[in-house]
Amino acid sequence: MTTNRDLTDEIKDYWSRRSKTFDLSFGHYIPPGPEAEAWAQPMRDHLGPAPQRVLELACGTGEVTRLVHDLGHDVTGLDFSEDMMAVAKAKHAGKPRLRFILANACQTMEPDASYDAILCRHLVWTLVEPEAAFTDWFRVLRPGGRLLIYDGDWARPASPLAAKLLALWARLSPEPSADETAAKAHADIMARLPFRGGLTVDRILPLLEQAGFEDFRHLSHAPISRAQRRANGLRNRLRTRVWNRFILVARKPGPTDTRTSPETSA
Ligand SMILES: C[S@@+](CC[C@H](N)C(=O)[O-])C[C@H]1O[C@@H](n2cnc3c(N)ncnc32)[C@H](O)[C@@H]1O
Repeated sequence: MTTNRDLTDEIKDYWSRRSKTFDLSFGHYIPPGPEAEAWAQPMRDHLGPAPQRVLELACGTGEVTRLVHDLGHDVTGLDFSEDMMAVAKAKHAGKPRLRFILANACQTMEPDASYDAILCRHLVWTLVEPEAAFTDWFRVLRPGGRLLIYDGDWARPASPLAAKLLALWARLSPEPSADETAAKAHADIMARLPFRGGLTVDRILPLLEQAGFEDFRHLSHAPISRAQRRANGLRNRLRTRVWNRFILVARKPGPTDTRTSPETSA
């Protein structure tokens, strides 16, 4: 029988194997300019003015870390893959207001109410214990603190046509970063995840509510996709069409930070 522990180990190994080439795949590295601005806008609108104490879960190779840190916040990057984190540490060596911790996002072991905000990109879909994770995130946020999630439904293509075209393209002209072993491992892992049927805002909301979060805002991912399309060739432009990606903001009940900047919802 496969236990949760085994699956967690497999996920960790999977990302560790991908650490050296992760930034080469479309949508991982965030180029400066309009795309970086589009990713950073929800942080500007919802994390509050700097400096906030921000916990970035699943910081991976440190791409989102750069954006949130550049906004002037005190950032803790957390990941359970030493290899992914090694890439992030090398990119950001010597920066003040930034530390990295090796931990499981399902149980961070961070002190109660020790962060003003938590954010993560492309973590929730792969959580083995989402209920435990959300309860833990609620615990480590201060009252009134914000949670900002960037994620997507990576199980059911929003455009099956775009997915088919890309699969055909991959067969005719494989990319240097293509890795069949990793692709198979990804499919094996996906089949056993709680969100194997696809991650949607509707699926996460009740779990976040159960953990105690409130004041949900569903933001559009379209500005990021548009910026990516403007800067990329046809193959990557097609990639922006395949998955339903979303941004979600939630709040731990408590006094509103009066310094919080005005909000824009999509
Ligand atoms: C798709 S990558 C995203 C990396 C980064 N957030 C980004 O968007 O560039 C997923 C990352 O989540 C990490 N991860 C997955 N599950 C985790 C968990 N339970 N605890 C900590 N890190 C986790 C992996 O090690 C990997 O670095």
